[in-house]
Amino acid sequence: LAFTQFEACPGIVDLAWGHPPPSALPVDAWAESCTEALRAFGPRALTYGYANGPGPLVEWLCERLGRTDVRAPRPDEVFVTAGASHALELVCALLVRTGDTVLVDSPTYHLALRIIGDHTADLVPVPVDEDGIDPVGTERLIHHLRGEGRRIPLLYLVPTFNNPTGACLPPDRRGALVEVARRTGVTIVEDDTYRELAYDGTAPPSLYGIGDGYAVIRVGSFAKTVAPGLRLGWLNASAELVRRIAARGYIDSGGGVNHTTAATMAVFGSSGRYERHVTVIRALYRAHRDELVSVARREFGHSSCGVPGGGWFLWLRLPPGVDSTLLLPHAEANGVSYVPGARFYRSSGGNGRGYLRLSFSMCEPDLLAEGVRRLAAAVGSAPTGHFPKPGHVGTL
Ligand SMILES: Cc1ncc(COP(=O)(O)O)c(C=O)c1O
Repeated sequence: LAFTQFEACPGIVDLAWGHPPPSALPVDAWAESCTEALRAFGPRALTYGYANGPGPLVEWLCERLGRTDVRAPRPDEVFVTAGASHALELVCALLVRTGDTVLVDSPTYHLALRIIGDHTADLVPVPVDEDGIDPVGTERLIHHLRGEGRRIPLLYLVPTFNNPTGACLPPDRRGALVEVARRTGVTIVEDDTYRELAYDGTAPPSLYGIGDGYAVIRVGSFAKTVAPGLRLGWLNASAELVRRIAARGYIDSGGGVNHTTAATMAVFGSSGRYERHVTVIRALYRAHRDELVSVARREFGHSSCGVPGGGWFLWLRLPPGVDSTLLLPHAEANGVSYVPGARFYRSSGGNGRGYLRLSFSMCEPDLLAEGVRRLAAAVGSAPTGHFPKPGHVGTL
């Protein structure tokens, strides 16, 4: 029986999965925090927890977010969740009704599209250009869709170190988008999972902070900064919305969703272990990023990719006419894997097929370089069927 989600495939350099390497998982520091949490909180660490999350974690998190962003949430604006995925699931359960229209960025986190889609919403991509979401076009689209009688509760995006592109929405667009949300009443769901993994200075202010807590719900996670297996994250929303989440039957039934782990995280944070750990893994991922960018540009040309300022991913443009979806089996036969670009778009229509996502989180730098060399070899040796004529890519 399997134990973990990712199992390495022999012979394949896996640049598809966004997972941490074993060396970035703080086994000893977490074990110390478990012991300390049990000593400090005693049986209270093991009983049903407070619905919104244990006070010491909420307090520490507010303080931390105040230092890494422009606005510290108030404690009643925090709800501790079982990860960012769970936070998004909760928001959808509360705000999305069957048949609603949910607006999404493109390209965007492919599994968020699945989470939202599970709520039988109609996902509609908003207009984007090379800088990301176009706020003016988005407002126009909202009016147009409403004119058709559609209900639009949410707009989902990852504005900071986007998965898959690593890009940040520029500051002027952040402000403009928050204004659009305020004017139209469409709530922004800001997935802020990568805020702490900034490699060239600090992350830009969140939309949540710019909006001063209005019109934006922020979801966050300890999966990238501490460990995915904790299943621990949070959401920031108005106190009223947090109250509505806490009042849901299953929270009332089970209490805080991940109480013992959350209490341990409070100790991991307040003891200084979190700060030390994040400093170490930031340097590790920065070195991975630098290696991947340099080898990708060597193999595919300087303009094949930008430099992601944070997060775990590189968005690579393939040579003209190469289709990343068709190429994948050939690349895997050549010993490298990736996620095809089309997966990060709501509608197929050829979008993203000239791109692919490479993850630099898991592999050591020499393996990253080997993976990219294999990818370049796969592109160079792909059967001609993998190179649709220019112009055909969009219709495949
Ligand atoms: C943008 C984004 N949001 C959410 C998640 C999932 O977070 P969690 O493990 O906390 O559910 C990921 C993980 O890849 C992600 O990239």
